[in-house]
Amino acid sequence: MLGARGVLRALRYCSSSSSSSSSSVPREQRVPAVRLRVREALGAREAAGEVKVQGWVRSVRSQKEVLFLHINDGSSLESLQVVADPSLQNRDLTFGSAVEVQGKLVKSPHKMQNVELQAGAIRVVGPCDTLSFPLKLKERHPLEYIRQFPHLRCRSNVLGALLRIRSEATAAIHSFFQDNGFVHIHTPIITSNDCEGAGELFQIETSHEAKESAEKNHFFGVPTFLTVSGQLHLEAMAGAFTRVFTFGPTFRAENSQSRRHLAEFYMVEAELSFTESLQDIMQVMEDLFKTATSSVFSKCPRDVELFHKYVAPAQKGRLEQVLKNKFVTISYNEAVEILKQAPQTFTFKPEWGCDLQTEHEKYLVKHCGEVPVFVINYPYDLKPFYMRDNEDGPQRTVAAVDLLVPGIGELCGGSLREERLPFLESRLQRLGLGDAYQWYLDLRKFGSVPHGGFGMGFERYLQYILGVDNIKDVIPFPRFPHSCLL
Ligand code: 4AD
Ligand code: MG
Repeated sequence: MLGARGVLRALRYCSSSSSSSSSSVPREQRVPAVRLRVREALGAREAAGEVKVQGWVRSVRSQKEVLFLHINDGSSLESLQVVADPSLQNRDLTFGSAVEVQGKLVKSPHKMQNVELQAGAIRVVGPCDTLSFPLKLKERHPLEYIRQFPHLRCRSNVLGALLRIRSEATAAIHSFFQDNGFVHIHTPIITSNDCEGAGELFQIETSHEAKESAEKNHFFGVPTFLTVSGQLHLEAMAGAFTRVFTFGPTFRAENSQSRRHLAEFYMVEAELSFTESLQDIMQVMEDLFKTATSSVFSKCPRDVELFHKYVAPAQKGRLEQVLKNKFVTISYNEAVEILKQAPQTFTFKPEWGCDLQTEHEKYLVKHCGEVPVFVINYPYDLKPFYMRDNEDGPQRTVAAVDLLVPGIGELCGGSLREERLPFLESRLQRLGLGDAYQWYLDLRKFGSVPHGGFGMGFERYLQYILGVDNIKDVIPFPRFPHSCLL
């Protein structure tokens, strides 16, 4: 791939070679046109020589004297303007068709773009029947509409922008961890543990097993599931590396019709050993959020702007404030008091010991000024077996933290882990899980250290920073029911 400087060098070379070669050098010896991505072509500052651009037609406008096209290849939100002689028009050159255009990149007379492509030749590589093609020229399709076409919606501006942002955000998250000394671990996707203990598991079986209704012979000898979290495997790694992270697909068999739940989503998880304070974990969560978001905003400003202009106006200003200020922290006890004193009635009455519902989370965020809020120290009985007992009463609270954000509710969940063997052993015994988690207890026998970590839902993160209401609009393929057919 050519960098910006490489592009310019190639273009300069092309322009000089094409002008000197036009008459004296035989055609077959001429330098072939430089293949440019639309983004590279748009970034070129000067008029240049023969180039080739490939992509899909986003607009066609035929005038008496000139034919205008806009070509997009997914490398940027902006399309490249092509100007051509009307004689190059042909029946197949329509909105949505795949084309290869060869010509000269020249300075554009228009204010909106530096350069345009003066086409010498246009080849339609793949025609597109515009009548049956569900995307229409010049229409801004609502997200709900394009969701019906999971296999085609990546060709819309909004999904194109989303997918570039998703790619940048993935890279920014990896960079954040690598830059801060975390080792990336690929944790298993097929596992026999139910980390969260919430029973929202997809069980794995071979198609052969699925057909046998009677006694099952499990492929792995034991029942296995798609992972609900890589945490327990990360904890094993945190016995040898002081900072580890994973970022992979995660599965929960829960109602995927909600606007913030998916059956298959991506989770970013980190684990830090030699950590005794929940504040240290919260600091990493906050730093991760701020660093990744700043990076995405600066790397794809036009794509982000599309969301902040058309999908969630006002989100930009709110997020700029969020990035400047420290996140708020309240305890679960305080949260319940705030909810009890709220001037509104909730469907679920707030009581100490009850889980915070979405309506509660939304109220808390509003109460704190529509900013991200850490809620810490939840009741012992509400949280999974691995969370550390705060010893503030007989099994009263654990060192847990949830990060709540406006419009979404819970974005991250984390905790200090119970590193003390007797505490963990008795909790697992009470839950009848002692045998299944012998390996996990081993981690507390051999060089156990205080440690903790968290998980952040990647789709919820994208929803929040872009102001997207429905989680199905931030994934490449909406899952249910359409992509089951793909
Ligand atoms: O709070 P959760 O369940 O935490 C864990 O799984 C921990 N074991 C993570 C850890 O400490 N390493 O999930 C973490 C985050 C949630 O806060 C939420 O953002 C997201 O994962 N999440 C979902 N996102 C989309 N669809 C779902 N069904 C989700 N369930 C959880
Ligand atoms: Mg949670």
